[in-house]
Amino acid sequence: SNMVDGMLGLQQSERELAQILNIDRCFIISGDSDHQDRVLDGMGTILNDTLAKMLPEGNNVIVVMGGNTMAQVAKEFSPELSTKRQLTFVPGRGGMGQSIAMQANTVCSIMAERTHGESQSMYVPEKLSEKSYQPLLEEPSVQLVLQLIEQSNVVIHGIGRADEMAERREVDPKILHLLQKKEAVGEAFGCFYNQQGEIVYRVPRIGLQFERINSIDHVLAVAGGHTKAQAIRSYMKLAPHQTYLVTDEGAANLILKK
Ligand code: F6P
Repeated sequence: SNMVDGMLGLQQSERELAQILNIDRCFIISGDSDHQDRVLDGMGTILNDTLAKMLPEGNNVIVVMGGNTMAQVAKEFSPELSTKRQLTFVPGRGGMGQSIAMQANTVCSIMAERTHGESQSMYVPEKLSEKSYQPLLEEPSVQLVLQLIEQSNVVIHGIGRADEMAERREVDPKILHLLQKKEAVGEAFGCFYNQQGEIVYRVPRIGLQFERINSIDHVLAVAGGHTKAQAIRSYMKLAPHQTYLVTDEGAANLILKK
């Protein structure tokens, strides 16, 4: 009965969290992904099961963002997701310059492989000069991905801490200074935001533009660990209402002040 109590307690917390964050739904995996990697597996399984229940039959175009969380949860996707569905995974943005394992392109191909679906890559470097940008935009392969993004009905994304993401993205010292001055706490979709959920800086990039997610049917955010509590809470102030959050107790308990 302890386990049943535990489960009911978690379900109660999930409802409270969704209410506080003002979004449709939350899932909380027990543990803290900052300390235990297996928590990410649990988040991946819940994400897979949730998609299996909610995606419509037929064609689904799923926009996918990068990051370590996304790369880890992708491994839990299963072929059942493709039952009565054709899935196409597309990266929301171009490459990240450094770690290939965390790129949206890589996450897409893992998801496609696990579900027996399809994926499309976008080869655009993270840092691009003004004059290289325009011709790349006209590349047929880039155009194809941009069209798929336009048709998408699902987006799955991570949420990061502003300090970590500024470091990972190797932003210029000038921008770093701005982020500090404006007290950025988090980053998602290339947008840095402050505690109140106001966007303070956007990384200019080809691909999904943040405002577009308001009109996407299913938006799934995946982020956990106590160190991300603030970044998650503030992001949800600008997230569309149809967002589902998959998180863990590490983050949830801090947001719920438990
Ligand atoms: O760079 C892509 C991205 O999804 C960011 O928008 C987000 O802040 C970050 O990755 C999360 O990365 P991680 O899961 O490694 O913390």
